[in-house]
Amino acid sequence: MNAALLILSSIFQPFSVSTPILCLQNTTATFDDLIACFYNYTVPQQYYSEDTYVAAQPSSDQLLAWEALVSSLLSVDGNCTSVVVPEAIADIYGVSLFTDSTSGLQYCIASELNALDGVYANGWGLVAVPATYDAVELTVHLAAPHPIFDGPTALQAAALFSATGARSLLISGRHREAYDTQSDCVIPTSATTVYYKTDPTHDVNEPFHSASTAILEWQRANGGCPSDSCAIIQLHGKAETSCPTDAMFMSSGIGSSTSSVAWYTDSTDRPIKRLKNALIQSFAPWNVSLPSDSSCSLTATDNVFGRLVNGIDASKVCTHAALANTTTGEFVHIEQAWQSTSPDAYEGWAEALVEAFGGAGEGK
Ligand SMILES: *[C@@H]1O[C@H](CO)[C@@H](O)[C@H](O)[C@H]1NC(C)=O
Ligand SMILES: *[C@@H]1O[C@H](CO)[C@@H](O)[C@H](O)[C@H]1NC(C)=O
Ligand SMILES: *[C@@H]1O[C@H](CO)[C@@H](O)[C@H](O)[C@H]1NC(C)=O
Ligand SMILES: *[C@@H]1O[C@H](CO)[C@@H](O)[C@H](O)[C@H]1NC(C)=O
Ligand SMILES: *[C@@H]1O[C@H](CO)[C@@H](O)[C@H](O)[C@H]1NC(C)=O
Repeated sequence: MNAALLILSSIFQPFSVSTPILCLQNTTATFDDLIACFYNYTVPQQYYSEDTYVAAQPSSDQLLAWEALVSSLLSVDGNCTSVVVPEAIADIYGVSLFTDSTSGLQYCIASELNALDGVYANGWGLVAVPATYDAVELTVHLAAPHPIFDGPTALQAAALFSATGARSLLISGRHREAYDTQSDCVIPTSATTVYYKTDPTHDVNEPFHSASTAILEWQRANGGCPSDSCAIIQLHGKAETSCPTDAMFMSSGIGSSTSSVAWYTDSTDRPIKRLKNALIQSFAPWNVSLPSDSSCSLTATDNVFGRLVNGIDASKVCTHAALANTTTGEFVHIEQAWQSTSPDAYEGWAEALVEAFGGAGEGK
C-alpha cells in the first residue's frame, strides 16, 4: 500500500456514517419516550477499539466545556434557549427545550447531536433538568451510570425524574464495557472482577464522572445538599444471582466495617435511612437493605463518585475508600433486582422519593 492510501485507510477505517440524532424533533413524545429514543444510541458492549475510544474521549478543553455545560444547565430557570454550548463542544452537544406531549411539562436537555453508525459519536452522556426552578419538586439528582448492563435503569431514572420533578437526570452514553480494556483507576481487590475504562463508577476519565462532579459542585454552591431534603442517587441493577434476597440494596459508599455499620444504624437522620423506610412502605414484603442489614457485597466502596462525595480528595478517588467519619450521606447507591427496575415499580418508587425528600425543605 502506498503512503497516500495508508493515510486514507487509517482515516476512513472503520468507515462510519455520521447522522444527526433526531429524537428531540418528535413532538408527540413524552419525556420518557424521548429518553427511550436516546437510549437506543448508547455505545454498546465491546464497541471501541483503542483508537475509537481515544477519538471519542474529550480533550482537556472539551472536558472543561462539558463540565461548564452541565453547570449552566443546572442554572436554567426559564432560559434554556439562552444556554450557549461552549465552542469546544458546539459540534458535539446541543441544548434544547423539550415539551412533554402528555404532561405539558418542559425540560432543558443537553444531548449529543450526532451518531456514527447509529451509535452516539462520543457517548459522554445526557443531562436533563426541569426548565424552570419552580418545576423542581425534589432536590434529588438521579443518575444511571450503567445503561443496558444494569438492565433498564436508564429508563427508570428518566421515569422517576419526570414523575417526581427531580432536580436533574444524568444518563451515561456508554455501556460499562464499551471499551473492553481494564481501567487503571480502581483496581479491584477480587481477581475475578474487572473494571473497564468505560465504567464511569470506577474510572475518573469517563465524562459521566465529570458530569457527576459538576452536579455535586453546583449543588454545593447553590444551597448545598442538606441531609433532610437532598441526595445524589445512582440507580444500578444487579444480576439475579447477586444478593438474591435483596430487592433493593442501598449504600452511601461505605461498607460494613464497625464504624460504617454504626453510621447506618445510629440515631442521625440520613437520606438513605429515610429512603429505606419509604421503600419498605411502597414495596413490602420485598427486602430493602443497607450494609448493616445484609451481607451483600455490592456496597459501592469502590465507586469513585461516592468516594468524592464522601470527602476523598479528587486526586485520590481511584485508590482511597471513604471513611464513615467524613461520609456525608448525600450519595445514595442503589442496587436493584429486576422487579425493582420494572415499570410496574415506578409509582412505588416515585412515592418513596417524595416521602423521603419532599417533606422538609420543600427544597429547590
Ligand atoms: C415519536 O414518539 C412516539 C412515542 O414514543 C413514537 O410512537 C413515534 O414512533 C415517534 N416518532 C418518530 C418519528 O420517531
Ligand atoms: C429502539 O430500537 C429498537 C430496536 O431497533 C426499536 O424497536 C425501538 O423502537 C427503538 N426505540 C425508540 C424509542 O426509538
Ligand atoms: C438563566 O437564569 C438564571 C437565573 O436567573 C441565571 O443564573 C443563569 O445564568 C441564566 N442562564 C443563561 C444561560 O442565561
Ligand atoms: C428477605 O431476606 C431473607 C433473608 O435475610 C430471606 O429469607 C427472605 O426470603 C427475603 N424475602 C424476600 C421477599 O425476598
Ligand atoms: C477519620 O478516621 C480516620 C481513621 O480512623 C482518622 O485517621 C481521621 O483523622 C478521621 N477524620 C476525621 C475528619 O475525623
